[in-house]
Parts: sequence; C-alpha cells; structure tokens
Amino acid sequence: MMQPYVLLISLLLMLVVAAIFWWVVRHSAANARLRPSGQVEGYRSGLFWGLVVVGIVVAVATLRPWPYDVGAADDAVTVMATGSQWSWEIVPSEVPVGRPIVFKVTSSDVNHGFGVYDSEDTMLFQTQAMPGYVNQVRHTFTDAGKYRVLCMEYCGLVHHDMISDIEVK
Ligand code: CUA
Repeated sequence: MMQPYVLLISLLLMLVVAAIFWWVVRHSAANARLRPSGQVEGYRSGLFWGLVVVGIVVAVATLRPWPYDVGAADDAVTVMATGSQWSWEIVPSEVPVGRPIVFKVTSSDVNHGFGVYDSEDTMLFQTQAMPGYVNQVRHTFTDAGKYRVLCMEYCGLVHHDMISDIEVK
C-alpha cells in the first residue's frame, strides 16, 4: 500500500512550503514601509481567512467521494478477481446490490485490465490486473443485474474474448 507514504510525503512538503511562507511573512512584516493601512489590512486578512475556509470546505467536499477509497473496515464484500490468458476467475461472481464491494484484482500471467461495464456498456470502474500485485477497487452497485467484465489491456491473441460476468442481486 503506497497511499500512506504518498500522504506522508505530501504532508511533509506542505510543512516545508508553510515554513517558507511563515519565514517570508515574518521577515517582510519587519519592514514597516510595506505595511498597508489598518483598514486595508483588516479587509485583506478577512479575505485571506475567508478563502482558507472556502478552500477547506471545497477540498473536503470533493475528496470524500474518492472512488478508490479502500480504507475503513465496514460491511464490504470482498471479491477476488484473477486474470489469466484468456479468462477471468471471479470469486464470488454473485454479489449483493447496495453493499460496498472491494475487488482485489491480480493476474496469474501477464498484465490485464479489469474493467466493469453496466448493461448499457458504460464503464463503471477499472483497474490493472498485474502479476505479483493485488490492486483494490471499491464499488457499490446501485442496480441489480448482469455486469460485464472486459479485459482493458492487450494481452495476446484472444484478448478480445476475455469477457466475464458479475451478477448483482
Ligand atoms: Cu487480458 Cu487483454
């Protein structure tokens, strides 16, 4: 799982940027000539904190429905999906409607692409199936029915026929 490291590195870099900003602000504040009048300063700091609040609200609102969020333990159903030239082994291939499903996707030979389509052939989600790795995708099916699994990456002669089904009940 790379995500905790990526998060940690991002936070560290943000801290560095914040420290630079703090240093610049501290040193420029010492220069009294550059300071604006009290009224302008009040307006400016109001605008600044207003933007900070808007930024936080927008970030939280847009990051929450992150499609690959596989963190929290809950009542999710786990499905193992293994690609091989040229078929999918999906266990179980029947899943409940309305419950989060965590697909753990891997390959027994070469790279494949695990793509799931609804009855109108619209792709719902996809991830790579790689030998030696298990990629996770989380999805909640809101409608019952038959969903098609297609291979999304050219993997040899019969790639086009690497099709399977998931039954949602
Ligand atoms: Cu498997 Cu293309």
